[in-house]
Amino acid sequence: MARHVVAAVGEIPPGGRKLVTIRGREIGVFNLDGEFYALVNRCPHQGAALCTGVVVSRLEASLPGEYRLSQPGTMLRCPWHCWEFDIRTGQSWCDPNDIKARTYAVTVEPGEALAKGPFAAETVGVAVEHDYVVLTL
Ligand code: FES
Repeated sequence: MARHVVAAVGEIPPGGRKLVTIRGREIGVFNLDGEFYALVNRCPHQGAALCTGVVVSRLEASLPGEYRLSQPGTMLRCPWHCWEFDIRTGQSWCDPNDIKARTYAVTVEPGEALAKGPFAAETVGVAVEHDYVVLTL
């Protein structure tokens, strides 16, 4: 599996997102209160650009007419037919057993760790001061 640096941490603020294209795949990277998640930008229903949808809270009801909002900012609503998906797992809220948006592993790694390897200069001091969001495909 290849790893791809997609952003500096500060580039995607809490509640924010960034769309990236890696090897022809559009992927949305989301920051949920400092935790990063990635979903393919393709709705499993009919292929809409899922990651351009509105981020909403989970709506739960124990009885008809009695509902409550929970887990604010964790659900992504598809812009075409409003199916909702959990950003953290890709799981569909309307059909959680059978429908799921593809997710990707995301880590946050210090810039010093990413600078190691064939790109490190041996005779010149290099300082990297920020953390970066890394996608693994
Ligand atoms: S294409 Fe996303 S809900 Fe239909």
